[in-house]
Parts: sequence; structure tokens; C-alpha cells
Amino acid sequence: MIGIVLLKVLTLAKLSSEFNYLSMKPTFLLLFLISLFTISGFAQINIIPQPVSIGESSGSFELNDSLLILTSSDELSGLGEYLSDLLFVTNWKGYPVKTFKTSPEKNSIILSLDKSGEYSNDEAYSLTVSENGVIIKAPHSSGLFYGIQTLRQLLPVQIEHTDPSMISRYQKWVVPGVEIVDYPRFQYRGLHLDVARHFFPVEFVKRYIDLLATFKMNRFHWHLTEDQGWRIEIKKYPRLTEIGAWRDSTLIGNYGSGKYDGILHGGFYTQEEIKEVVQYAADRQVTIIPEIEMPGHSSAALAAYPELGCFDKEYHVTSTWGVFEDIYCPKEETFDFLEDVLDEVIELFPGTYIHIGGDEAPKKQWEESPIAQEVIKREGLKDEHELQSYFIHRIEKYLNSKGRQIIGWDEILEGGLAPQATVMSWRGEAGGIEAAKMGHDVIMTPGDTNYLDHYQDKWEEEPIAIGGLTTLEDVFNYEPIPDTLTAEEAKYVLGAQGNVWTEYMHTPSKVEYMAYPRAIALSEVLWSPVQHKNWDDFLARIQSVFTRLDIMGVNYGKQYKK
Ligand code: ACM
Repeated sequence: MIGIVLLKVLTLAKLSSEFNYLSMKPTFLLLFLISLFTISGFAQINIIPQPVSIGESSGSFELNDSLLILTSSDELSGLGEYLSDLLFVTNWKGYPVKTFKTSPEKNSIILSLDKSGEYSNDEAYSLTVSENGVIIKAPHSSGLFYGIQTLRQLLPVQIEHTDPSMISRYQKWVVPGVEIVDYPRFQYRGLHLDVARHFFPVEFVKRYIDLLATFKMNRFHWHLTEDQGWRIEIKKYPRLTEIGAWRDSTLIGNYGSGKYDGILHGGFYTQEEIKEVVQYAADRQVTIIPEIEMPGHSSAALAAYPELGCFDKEYHVTSTWGVFEDIYCPKEETFDFLEDVLDEVIELFPGTYIHIGGDEAPKKQWEESPIAQEVIKREGLKDEHELQSYFIHRIEKYLNSKGRQIIGWDEILEGGLAPQATVMSWRGEAGGIEAAKMGHDVIMTPGDTNYLDHYQDKWEEEPIAIGGLTTLEDVFNYEPIPDTLTAEEAKYVLGAQGNVWTEYMHTPSKVEYMAYPRAIALSEVLWSPVQHKNWDDFLARIQSVFTRLDIMGVNYGKQYKK
């Protein structure tokens, strides 16, 4: 028995190109193999997020040139091609993708939709390896996509190369003999990107989406408008991007430094580019949540259309960070404008949710504005907080009439929550708890653990960041369900998200450095069963993921790399 076990572990170890067991001394080798077996049952299986269950199957499978990728229907051919592309370095001629009609052939990777109803949730999948090949089954294409990501991590790290000349001629592509059953713990597994404080090109946005999808995240919150820049083309209001997408200078260094670079910064996404990104995301099972901020964080829009403000004054696309008093005036003209903008946004983004911001909206200008005060009187509102609530209710009503739902930052609770709104809790978890108790859906993004713009290590040793300290371990230890919620209330917590605000991220490479590897820890928090949560095990598994990121050329924080 022990012999078989050792043989199995040896075989698995040999299959892994990360592992050079021949260079180990015999006693160390034996200890190492025993410890590997007792820890995980399977050597060298380093999947993140950790699947629900990994069992042993009848045998392993080695990819070869005559392999077929088979799908259970024509509609899955795109997914088959996606898999063939992922496997490019194993066979640069590509594997044929075919639909199977009767019993699937041997020597194949099968992607099969299975409507048997045996799955734990909509995004579940099973993956079975045998000497004949690999079968991935799922009730929906999302599960098949996640099965493919798991298959990718079962293969040697070299699979991440895109250049075949990097691959040794002795490289073997063996999938170990496993049987995996897997499904996510939460339905909302998000990563956010602020493209307003700094603009990032379409190619990077796609790369960002591709990477988050690799770790089975399924929401990309695209923060498109801000004081410092408006980033989405709106055909009816061209000045939003002619004027609002550009600032003439940017703060240098720490907040309050008083130094500016004097360099024009800006950019925006055309509607054609946005359609391209939406499709790219959909192909990776990612829904995009566009954010159009209101009523605050709107200096760039006001600079373009000053008549939407409460005062006859000049507005500027801001060059520094923070919270600004300039705010949309709650007049009819503003609602007409916002409804027109949202009409175009709805056309571009097919997902249910539109994020309408709602955070950090100072009420000073509304207090001083006769127009705002008149609206308070007309609507019988108590104060400016109720005016903000009136503002958000109106926008919600409009979006609901178009079949959409709003998400807002937790300030939308103040003055009365809009009836259908989902709350994104960022000032800790209190807003999320309050909303869940009221029967509203919640997405948790508390600053201490989910703000990936914080330092990830001692600030003295790190490139400049906004502040705070949120280590990889802090993110890993985050639990999205607060223990003050009952089981019934907890159902309103749809999941959580990592936020990547870019005041101090000028380049794509810095964004990756801040987001990774912390986004990977969050992916495990959101996908894997909480009862399996184990930091030491995660830390061991993430080492091979680091090697994958190295091969992929991702810049990431190396603090936990061994
Ligand atoms: C936020 O960080 N202002 C939502």
C-alpha cells in the first residue's frame, strides 16, 4: 500500500516541472514525500481558489498532438477555442474543436453542459481526469469556464507561456488523476478599477479582466467618472470627453505636497471600445458594473456642463485628490442630463446593475443654493440628506423603469434608502449590516481589508500608496458575513469586492502590483468553503501561482514569495 502511495506521489511529483526531486537527498526526499501526502493527499496540486473537493480518479492524462477538444453543443465552440488558445504552447498547431454527437471519443478534453440538476449552484462544475482525457461538466457555460481555469492550474506552470520557444522539448503536459467537484460560496466576486484618477488603456483593462477571471472572479466594477476625469464617451454630451476627460496637471507625491506636474493627463473609452471590453469580459464570464458617480465626485462633468451646478461659477477637472464641494444641482435639467447619460450607458452594458456612486457628497452647496432649497421645500424634505435620498430615489426609479437595478456606496442609506438599491459597504461593515437587516442586497468592500490601494507592507519599504496597511494575510482572513447577522439576513450579502483606487497608481504595472496578489486571496475568500480556510495551506499553494504570474509578466507584491 505504502509502495503504491509513494509511487503515486512520485509520479505526481515527477509530472510537475516545478519539482526537481532528483536533486534532493534520499532522507529529505522521503520526508518531503510523506509530508506532501499527509498534508494534501495529492502532491503538487495548487489550485486557487481552493476547490470544494478534490478526489482521486482512475488515472492521469497526458496531452498529445492528436487530442480533440469536444463540446456538447455548437454554442460552446467559442469556449472550446478559448481552451485551445490557452493550451497553445502545448501544441502550436492548435487542437481541433468539435461538437460531439454520440458518445465522446477517447483522447479528448470534453466540455459538456449537463442539465441533470445535480449541481450545488449555477456556477458549479465537475472535472474528471482519466487515461482517456478530461471531462468538464457544468449546468452553465460559466461552470465550464471555471473548470477550464482549474484545468489550467492542474497543468504545469509553463502552460502560462505564450511563446513556444520558451518550452523545453522534454516538457510533458500531464493532468494528474483527480476528480473535482466545485462551486462558489458567493455569487458576487468582484474587483474594481478606478480609471478616472488615472486613465488606463483598453488593452490594460482587458488584461485586468482576464487576470481576475483566471481566479474565478466574476464582476468588474469599472469606476468611469470622477472629479479628476470623465472616461466614457456619451454621444449626446461630447464635452464630457472633450473637456471632462482632461486635467491640465496632477499632484506629485503625497497628498498635500503642493507640487504639481503641469502635464496634461487624460483619455476616455469610445463606445466602440466599451462594447469590445464588455464582450471580452462576457467571454470570461465577467459582468461589468459601470459606475457613473452622482451627485458628488462630479467636478469633471460640471467642468464640461457648468449649467448642471447650483452656481454660476467656473468648475475644473481637479488636479488633486479628495472630496470636493462641487456637486450636481438637483434641478430638472440635471435629471434630464443624467437620464440621457444613463440611456447610453444602459445600451452599452447589458448587466443588471448600474452603480450610481452616492459617496462623499458634501451638502454645503445645496445648503447655500436657492434652487436646492426650493426642491427641499417642494418635496417636503427634512434636510439635504433627504435631498440626496430624493436624488438617488429618482435615479433608481428611472433605472428600474428600464429594467435595471442600482448599486450605491453606503452613504445612500442616509436620508432613506431607495427601495430596490443594493448597498456597497465601504466605510466598514456597518452600512452593509444595516442594509441586510432591512432586506437589501449588500456587497462588502470594507476599507480595512478590501481597499487594495492600501500599503501591503511597511510603508518605508513600499512605493507610495494612499495609506493604511492591508497585507495579503489580512485580505485572506476577511470574512464577508458579519457574525451580527442572522442566517436569514446573511443571505443578503451577495459577496464582496476589492477596490483599486488609483490616485497613487500612475501605470498599469503599479495597478497590478497593488491588486496582486491580494486579489487572489480575495478570490479564495469568495469562492472556497469557509470551513477549509487555512492560511498556511494557501501560502503553500500560492507559491506556484507566483511562478505563473512571473511567466505571465504580472507585476505583483513579492512579500510572501518564498
Ligand atoms: C469610496 O472609497 N469613496 C467609496
